[in-house]
Amino acid sequence: MTDLTVLGLETSCDETAAAVVRRAADGRVQVLSSVIASQIAEHAPYGGVVPEIAARAHVESIDAIAAQAIAEAGVTYADLTGVAATAGPGLVGGVMVGLSFGKAVALARGIPMIAVNHLEGHAVSARLAADLPYPFLLLLVSGGHCQLLAVEGIGQARRLGSTIDDAAGEAFDKIAKTLGLPYPGGPALEKLAQGGDPERFPLPRALLGRKDCDFSFSGLKTAAARIAETLTTEDERRDLAASVQTAIARQLAERSDRAMAAYAQAHHGFGLRFVVAGGVAANKAVRARLEETASARGFSFTAPPLAYCTDNAAMIALAGAERLALGEAHPMDAPARPRWPL
Ligand code: KG4
Ligand code: ZN
Repeated sequence: MTDLTVLGLETSCDETAAAVVRRAADGRVQVLSSVIASQIAEHAPYGGVVPEIAARAHVESIDAIAAQAIAEAGVTYADLTGVAATAGPGLVGGVMVGLSFGKAVALARGIPMIAVNHLEGHAVSARLAADLPYPFLLLLVSGGHCQLLAVEGIGQARRLGSTIDDAAGEAFDKIAKTLGLPYPGGPALEKLAQGGDPERFPLPRALLGRKDCDFSFSGLKTAAARIAETLTTEDERRDLAASVQTAIARQLAERSDRAMAAYAQAHHGFGLRFVVAGGVAANKAVRARLEETASARGFSFTAPPLAYCTDNAAMIALAGAERLALGEAHPMDAPARPRWPL
C-alpha cells in the first residue's frame, strides 16, 4: 500500500467543509488542510438549522471550499488518490450536495470514492491528532447523537448504549434556547456558565439505577425550562447554566463509567482507552469530568483538538483513507442516507 492523499467532503448539517488528509503507508496521518465554511449566520434568525437553506448554501459554496482545501494543502486535483464524502446520516439535501461533488471528482480523476458514515468520521476524529490505536471505547456526543461504542477497528463498532430521547448536544441547544441564548446553544451556554454556581439548582439525575449504558436528557430539559421561567437576575441565569452543564457532564460520566467497566471486562483489562468525540466534546467541563472518570478506571483519555470535535471534513477524509487502505471503494450509485446507524 502506497501513501494516500484523500479529499474529504462534509455537508450533512450546517457546515460546508473540505479537507485534504495524507495517510502514509505505515498509517501515519497528516492533515494538509481543513476548511470549514459555517452557515451559522444564515440559520441564526430562525433559531436552528433550516434544511432548505442549508442545502442551497452547500450548493453555492462546495466548489470554492474544495478548491480552497486543495490549494491550502499545496496539491492539485491530479495529486489525489481518493475522495471521501459524507453519505449520511444527516439532512439529505445537504448530504446529496457533497456526495454528488465527491462522485464527480472521482469520475473526472478516475480515482476511488468512499461514501463515509458521518458518525464513523467522528469515531476516527481523535486519530487525526493523536497516536491512538484500535480498539477504544468511544463516547460520541454531538447535536444528533449520543452513544457509547466499542470501536474495534474501522467499520467495527459495537454499541453499548445510546440515548432514549434527546442527544446531549440537543439538550444543550434546547436548554440554551429557554435561557434566551442564540443558536448554536452549546458554546453559548458554556460561556454563560463561567463562574456560575453548579450546585444552586438541583436537577434530576436520569437512569441512575439502571444497569445499562443508555442516556436520557428530557427530564433535565423540562426541569431546566421550568426553572428558567422563574429567573429574574443575571446571576441566576449564570447559575442555572452552570447547573445544567454540570448535570449533563455528570450523566455522561456516570454512563461512561458503566461502559468502561463492561468494556474492561470484555477486553480482559487490556487496551483500556477512552475517547470522547463530537461537538459536545468541545465543552471543557464535559472533558474534565470524563478525564477524571477515565483515570479512576485506569483508562487513557483522548479527545480531539477543538477544531476536530465539531463537524469538519478532515475526519471524513481520514475515515475514507482508512477504508481505502483496506482496498474498499464504493459505486457511483451509493445513496445519500438520512438515517444510517453505525
Ligand atoms: O458534531 P457536531 O458539530 O454536529 C453534529 O454532528 O451534530 O455537534 C454540534 C453540537 C451542537 O448541539 C452544539 O451545541 C454542541 O455540539 N456543542 C457544544 C459545544 N460546542 C458545540 N455543546 C456544549 N459545549 C460546547 N462548547
Ligand atoms: Zn457531527
